Amino acid sequence: MNRLANKVAMITGAGRGIGAAIALAFAREGAAVVLAELDLEMAQRTAREIEGAMVAAGANNAGGASKVLAVQTDVTQSASVQHAVREAEQAFGAVDVLVNNAGINVFCDPLTMTDDDWRRCFAVDLDGVWNGCRAVLPGMVERGAGSIVNIASTHSFKIIPGCFPYPVAKHGVIGLTRALGIEYAPRNVRVNAIAPGYIETQLTHDWWNGQTDPAAAQQATLDLQPMKRIGRPEEVAMTAVFLASDEAPFINASCITVDGGRSALYHD
Ligand SMILES: NC(=O)c1ccc[n+]([C@@H]2O[C@H](COP(=O)([O-])OP(=O)(O)OC[C@H]3O[C@@H](n4cnc5c(N)ncnc54)[C@H](O)[C@@H]3O)[C@@H](O)[C@H]2O)c1
Repeated sequence: MNRLANKVAMITGAGRGIGAAIALAFAREGAAVVLAELDLEMAQRTAREIEGAMVAAGANNAGGASKVLAVQTDVTQSASVQHAVREAEQAFGAVDVLVNNAGINVFCDPLTMTDDDWRRCFAVDLDGVWNGCRAVLPGMVERGAGSIVNIASTHSFKIIPGCFPYPVAKHGVIGLTRALGIEYAPRNVRVNAIAPGYIETQLTHDWWNGQTDPAAAQQATLDLQPMKRIGRPEEVAMTAVFLASDEAPFINASCITVDGGRSALYHD
């Protein structure tokens, strides 16, 4: 508890899935959290759930003031992300931690993919990460402190045929993480990534449901997991807490894989 006390954290795409789990874990560790999410209603629902969990844990602050804020944000629009940062600053003060989590699956065959598929993938999965970084970096650089955590993927290192161009954008997230991590290291701003493997969220269920035989697709996924299960959003959130906290002061321009060993497994 309190590993993120007095910190202000903004998490993009925090209405559900991994982002929501990160927001809850951060709140439990004492951070004020801003859920910067495209779907405002969903973000507000999640914010209420987090507040409820904090009250149940007896962890709401003395005056009872909420430390959870939902802000409608489209990460593809830099002005929208900048607006969210201003809202966060007004509510809680300067943003100490940014998690660029919002992401979408765009899985196509390269030659039948439309231009729109390419653009919407990059708009969310790479431009969105840059828009987040650009919105918080000036303040972090000025204050000489900050931690940015980008949610990449094991698709940042490995290729599954038919999943184009998602891995291209996710490779880019690692490049961006490393470049910005080096650029701002002298100002004590750390930029790291997490590469989750299969994590049980709506995104994963949507992918299984899109296969000809969803049950068989799900079973095939599980069969290839060394731990014979896929990951839970909270398991990614624990790593995000670590990278965001002062327990990782010398970890920079790095990526931590959270996949139960899946990407180390050799198979035909
Ligand atoms: N679930 C997995 O197995 C898995 C594996 C590797 C990486 N990831 C990555 O983790 C991140 C979260 O994935 P998830 O599984 O929780 O997905 P999810 O679809 O459950 O949640 C993504 C959230 O992002 C929001 N979002 C989408 N576009 C947005 C935009 N333009 N602006 C703001 N918010 C937007 C959605 O509304 C949603 O709430 C993504 O970057 C994804 O690529 C997921």
